[in-house]
Amino acid sequence: MARLNILRYPDPRLHTVARPIEGVDEHIRQLVDDMLETMCAADGVGLAATQVDVHLQLIVMDTSELHDQPVVLINPALIWTSPEFAVAEEGCLSVPQIYDKVERHARVRVQALGRDGQPFEMDAEGLAAVCVQHEMDHLLGKVFVEYLSQLKRDRIRTKMLKKLRDESA
Ligand code: NI
Repeated sequence: MARLNILRYPDPRLHTVARPIEGVDEHIRQLVDDMLETMCAADGVGLAATQVDVHLQLIVMDTSELHDQPVVLINPALIWTSPEFAVAEEGCLSVPQIYDKVERHARVRVQALGRDGQPFEMDAEGLAAVCVQHEMDHLLGKVFVEYLSQLKRDRIRTKMLKKLRDESA
């Protein structure tokens, strides 16, 4: 297992669109395990492969209270979304220390392949629904701050660039 480097906004690689995974082999399972380790080490509830600069349709998440129920979504597709929406405060490992409200479908049903390569469906609501939609956006090259106003986004970009400069100084 290895911890992977997480890309930070506004890194342009975060806007790459991920390709579907053609076969769930040892290489993919290793990536899954490394992503789970990376997510846990960073205290995150979700991580998309895009964030570790691997542009394949793969998400890991764990929104359980004890962080002991990891979920792996390979080639995820939303097969149902609730007509109701909900607003929740979101954060992102690629945009550290920035939190803001985003409106998304309150409930979703997602179809994906698991770590074993077998298809399954999962119903998600609450934090899990937010997480699925947030992480699937990453696979499309979209970061949650893109839902915010241009003004807020500009401020976040400036703050992130300053943070990166400070860290490398
Ligand atoms: Ni994120």
